[in-house]
Parts: sequence; structure tokens; C-alpha cells
Amino acid sequence: ERPVIIDCDTGTDDAIALLCAHRCKDLNVVAITTVAGNTYLENTSQNTLNLVDYIDWDVPVAIGESKPLMRKLVTADCHGTKGFGDVVLEKSNREFHPMDACTLIYEMAKKYEGQLEIVTIGPMTNMAMCLLRYPDIKPLIKRITFMGGAMIGGNTTLAAEFNIYADPEAAKIVFESEIPLTMVGLDVTQKAVLSPEDREYFNMLDNPHAKLTVKLLDYMFKRADLFGQEDAVMHDGLAVASLVLPDLLKTEKYYVTVETKGHYTTGQTVVDYYNSTKKEENIDIAVDLDVDMFKEWVRQLIGY
Ligand code: BDR
Ligand code: CA
Repeated sequence: ERPVIIDCDTGTDDAIALLCAHRCKDLNVVAITTVAGNTYLENTSQNTLNLVDYIDWDVPVAIGESKPLMRKLVTADCHGTKGFGDVVLEKSNREFHPMDACTLIYEMAKKYEGQLEIVTIGPMTNMAMCLLRYPDIKPLIKRITFMGGAMIGGNTTLAAEFNIYADPEAAKIVFESEIPLTMVGLDVTQKAVLSPEDREYFNMLDNPHAKLTVKLLDYMFKRADLFGQEDAVMHDGLAVASLVLPDLLKTEKYYVTVETKGHYTTGQTVVDYYNSTKKEENIDIAVDLDVDMFKEWVRQLIGY
């Protein structure tokens, strides 16, 4: 069992990633932290709390940063106005953890003495804030796996992926932290999809995870349809899956930085593909994936 914190901006695909993480016996999710991104912090936090309550998951949820380090918040309209598509979960009366996200991350890092891993599936504001406030956390984190960036192209601007675009300064701080990093970017996440066929499979099942997955997928399919696509992309689920499936992703290590001042390219993850800077490689970038292995992982976890 690996102690893990999931840092999220729930979020439709974040929600499916959390459902999988809850069912995954190889992960020990010791906390979930929330950040503004897909929608305002108030929504991402409440969505997360409602979700863990709905599946009766006993895990602390701590609220993080309400806006990027230096910029105005940009939200993503593809998750609906409140970030949960058109799905409504009962409002949870549970309490959030009394610590803020970055303090809880720090406390957990000390508790697990170098074994803690973090998966960020939203903008990296909490993690950056944590590094700024508690720089001695660095050697205490085993690895940060992040959904974000791309070797080529973007889904928010022509050069940038949403999570990095939303807070490029935060990403830069994390990239320069010297903590082991794995980037699960668009190059692979765009291929990690669930199809209407998968939806049919989940629709035959009568458990809360499958039922919620079906509702979220229905919303995501509607969105995909607007762009002439059939499938729903599981960006965040792929990042979580990569922690427990060592052969899921093929990675290559490069020096990577982030554009923070670009005209067209703000938020681009800039990869030193030809080693022209001679700087030491800092990120294991996922360059390929086993799509079937991912699908099977989701089907097995949600399909019970
Ligand atoms: C990322 O942006 C968000 O909208 C998704 O939840 C995912 O984390 C994909 O670019
Ligand atoms: Ca997300």
C-alpha cells in the first residue's frame, strides 16, 4: 500500500479518478486536497466532499488555494457551471479537515517519512505553495505525478494544457523543486478514453461507483459530441492509474520548463528534446500508454 495524496479540482474526470482510487487496494489515499481550477474552489471542494460522502469514504479532505499564485483564476467550462457536469450529489454535511491543503500535505509528508507520493490532477498551486511555505518538505516526498502539460500542443490554448495554463508559475516552482516528477500529459491522456460501450457495461451494475460513473460519462459524452467525438477522456484517471500499474506508461526523461511570459505559449511545457541546454533531466514524461490496460483497470475497479 502506497501512501498517496490526491490534489484535485473536481471536476468530472477528477471524480472518476477518485472513484477508482477509492476502490484500488494498492493505494492508501491518506488525504485529498482541493484547488481552484475547473471551477471555483468552493465548488471543487464541495464536489469532492459530496463524492467521498456518497461512497462512504473515510478520508480527510482539505481545502487549498482559491486562485493561482500570481494570476486571475481561469476556469474550464467543459465541467459545467459547478464542475460536476449536470450531476447533482446530495450536499455533504461532513467537515473539511481543519488544516489547509498545503499544511496537511506537509504534515503527511513528515508522517510518512519519505514514502508519500502526491498526484496532482488540477493546477499545481497547492503543491507550489507548499514548497514555498515548507521548503524542507522536498526530501520527504517520494514522487509527484502530475496530470498536466504536453510535449506537443494544448487543449486550452494552442500551446498549453489546462492545468499548467491555469497556474504556470506554480508548475515552474514544482518543476524546479528537484523532487522526482512524472508528467502525464495530453500526449497520453487524450488516448485514455472510456466509450459508450464501457458506459453500457457500468450501466448493468448496481453499485454507487458505477452509477455515478454512468451519470458523469453521460455528461462527458454530451460535451464530446459538441466536438464530434464519441468517447470521454480520462486525463486524471490515467495519472492515478500510473501509480499502481508500472507498465501502463512508457516514459522518457527530459529537462522541462514552463513558459510564463509567452505571447502564444504561456503555460506551455517546454521540453529539451535534443538536450540543447545540457541541463539535468528533471521530469519523466509519459510518451506512450497501454490503453487496454487502463480500460481494464477502470472496469475492474468500478465493475464490482
Ligand atoms: C485537465 O484539465 C481539467 O479540465 C481536467 O480535469 C484535467 O485535469 C485536462 O487538461
Ligand atoms: Ca482535473
